[in-house]
Amino acid sequence: MSAPVRLEQVQDALLNTELDAVALMPGPNLVYAGGVRLHRSERLNVLVIPRQGTPRALCPRLEAAAYRHLDVPLHTWSDEEGPMPALEQLVAEAGLARAVWGVEYHNAYYGEVMALRQAAPHAQFRPAEAVLTRLRLIKDETEIEALREAARVTGQIVQETLDALRPGLTERAVASHIQSLLLARGSDGAAFSPLVASGPNAADPHALPGDRVLSSGDVIIVDLGATVRGYHGDITRCAALRPVASEIRRIYDVVRRAAEAGRAAVRPGARAGEVDRAARRVIDEAGYGAYFIHRTGHGLGLQVHEPPYIHAENDETLEPGMVFTVEPGIYLPGLGGVRVEDVVVVNERGHEVLTHVSRDLVVV
Ligand code: CO
Ligand code: CO
Repeated sequence: MSAPVRLEQVQDALLNTELDAVALMPGPNLVYAGGVRLHRSERLNVLVIPRQGTPRALCPRLEAAAYRHLDVPLHTWSDEEGPMPALEQLVAEAGLARAVWGVEYHNAYYGEVMALRQAAPHAQFRPAEAVLTRLRLIKDETEIEALREAARVTGQIVQETLDALRPGLTERAVASHIQSLLLARGSDGAAFSPLVASGPNAADPHALPGDRVLSSGDVIIVDLGATVRGYHGDITRCAALRPVASEIRRIYDVVRRAAEAGRAAVRPGARAGEVDRAARRVIDEAGYGAYFIHRTGHGLGLQVHEPPYIHAENDETLEPGMVFTVEPGIYLPGLGGVRVEDVVVVNERGHEVLTHVSRDLVVV
């Protein structure tokens, strides 16, 4: 099955903007619009989608195959000649020398924008984010199916990882096991570097796995994501090695109830901020508000973090097709921390939870 192509949707979205064209570099927008998945590198690769007329691609000769399914004019360049002659030809043939171009504020490299400026010195360059963010915010059925599959594979690996936890393993060894499971279970690599944080390290929400040895009394946070057809999973679960401190059991119970309250607030018409407040209220009321030090969640799709962001001040209205995480946590310096993370999709009836791993604290 070839990847979906959404060139016409992008052109439609450009109709109501000041942009005459968008230039997409390798990354999530290029996957979304063109179904083109490429490694990011220093070699110039651009898909130019004009508001009207024919999209065109500029690419290094060795990567031309990535665009073949698109059936658009390809302007290829060799390592010897460099990209500029081909880029100048593209600009001339597309009639975009004096156009208003949209470039990706968060994805295009400075050098890439400079190359476009050099090829079209009389053009103007503006951020293209508004157009693409809006399109990608509401997932279609194809995307939701990929996210469902990514969540399923992620859940399976989380469960296998928790089942294999033993005192004496290092965080690094557990993370290495996760990496091999990702490939073995059908993920295209890791959505992000898997997190395995034990004991006091678990008090840091983004602690990277190190040489610490899992020891009795530890709480362990495992947070990982599989990637399927470009779409990511993201699940966090916790385990504890006996004897489990009573405060760990207490904060785990609070976080689990906070996550449940957050998910229960997810429905079309609700504000993103309501989901955060629903989760946060449970933690506040238990007296741990000062230790929930991040937002409740983030959108999930072709990027691990994307809109909508689930924080208290976000008044954005939730709509069917939005996909995001609900992941409250409590982090107690010196002792450890816990987080429970699931993925939900807003639908007409309320929401569907895409993640189906038990939320019981795994005690080893
Ligand atoms: Co996560
Ligand atoms: Co997350």
